[in-house]
Amino acid sequence: MTVDLAALIDDRPDEGVFRVDRAIFTDPEVFALEMRHVFEGGWVFLGLESQAPGPHDFFTTAAGRVPVLVSRDGDGRLRAFVNSCPHKGAQLAQIQSGNARLHVCPYHSWTFDSAGSNRGIKWQRAGCYSEAFTGASHDLAPLPRFEGYRGFLFGSLNPDVPALAEHLGEAARFLDLVVGQPEEGIELVPGAVTFTYDANWKLQLENCSDAYHFTSAHPSYIRVLERRQQAGGPAAVRSIWEQSQAWSEESEGVQGGSYSFANGHVLNWGRIGISETHPLFEQAGALGARHGEAARDWIFNMRNLTIFPNLQVAENASSQLRIIQPLAPGRTLMRTWCLAPRGESAEARRLRIRQYEDFFNPSGMATPDDTVAYESCQRGFAGRVDPWLQGYARGAMASQEGGNALSAAIGAGAERSVLADSQLCDETLYHSYYRAWLQRMAPAMARGA
Ligand code: FES
Ligand SMILES: [Fe+2]
Repeated sequence: MTVDLAALIDDRPDEGVFRVDRAIFTDPEVFALEMRHVFEGGWVFLGLESQAPGPHDFFTTAAGRVPVLVSRDGDGRLRAFVNSCPHKGAQLAQIQSGNARLHVCPYHSWTFDSAGSNRGIKWQRAGCYSEAFTGASHDLAPLPRFEGYRGFLFGSLNPDVPALAEHLGEAARFLDLVVGQPEEGIELVPGAVTFTYDANWKLQLENCSDAYHFTSAHPSYIRVLERRQQAGGPAAVRSIWEQSQAWSEESEGVQGGSYSFANGHVLNWGRIGISETHPLFEQAGALGARHGEAARDWIFNMRNLTIFPNLQVAENASSQLRIIQPLAPGRTLMRTWCLAPRGESAEARRLRIRQYEDFFNPSGMATPDDTVAYESCQRGFAGRVDPWLQGYARGAMASQEGGNALSAAIGAGAERSVLADSQLCDETLYHSYYRAWLQRMAPAMARGA
């Protein structure tokens, strides 16, 4: 190893300094170490249980560079395997999702059941195999660790990791808010979207937590909503942004903030209020009765949650689930879905999907602004006259140890928290990402290789 990983992050909390070296986004050696230690050395998000609801349902995903097959066996048990045939390594399942009692390898037709057991080796009797071969296992290799939390499935290629509950820590309370909305649970609206952008994966990681860019990078979205508002359009075309503007004009003081949790998870949030432009509006009363008013109000807040390193749930006018998959230092694959409560009314679902298309879809008005900005940053990273990026400093004097009264109201804590007006736009929450990043890189640094 020639790169000094610790030197890429200038973290001096006592002096109020946190800076990141641009090389962290561009260096191929850093990227290779990230794959090995961040994505293949610890917990990563794989998908939702609801992506494989019935016996023999499966979906494919990845842990770093490693293709993964998640399959529900005939007894209804979910399992996760390396999606690679033990014969010569070909990827076994080739499609994103489906239902298969048997998976037949496309290369030489070895066959596996939905529990990963080998059920057939083509022309085995004629194969003159040795006893050693016949006596060995030919099953798919299970992921060393595979656990779920309330329908969110995580895996680790490294067996030596803490229990998932420990990894999620206090951030789990905010996953509860995602799944706790409806009585019937959540589901993915049919129609997954996959796209790539030509920039580093950590730009997406940061952008989800970046309130500072919104009015700068998304003016066309804001202008379109303003025009719709002036025209008195229906709620479906006005969106929650209108409501949040109204709220911030009426109120003073705290309008949002952030929480940083252990292991790199973060939440940033903004106060919205109970708005008719929110797809959950029809359920406001029921949600209050079921969860209490504090949790209900949190459910209506704008919330962007990142579970390090690759899961993001963005909830505002609609809800988006994102999986970040790095492909190269300057290339990232995004897989995104609209997330929705099961059993919501047709009208609420329509509102959710329209607002999703407006804001989140790659064909919408916000996501392209963001990906263009990531690619612009990636080009700018070539400039190394001053390698240090200064985008981690806002909020330094507002960040407090622990949670606050608002998180306590729903039984949540945090390592650090910030309460903000509409312009503070905390950047200290990114510190958690890079501290967790270094933590996962520790084995590389210890070995110096
Ligand atoms: S690689 Fe799968 S059967 Fe040969
Ligand atoms: Fe954005």
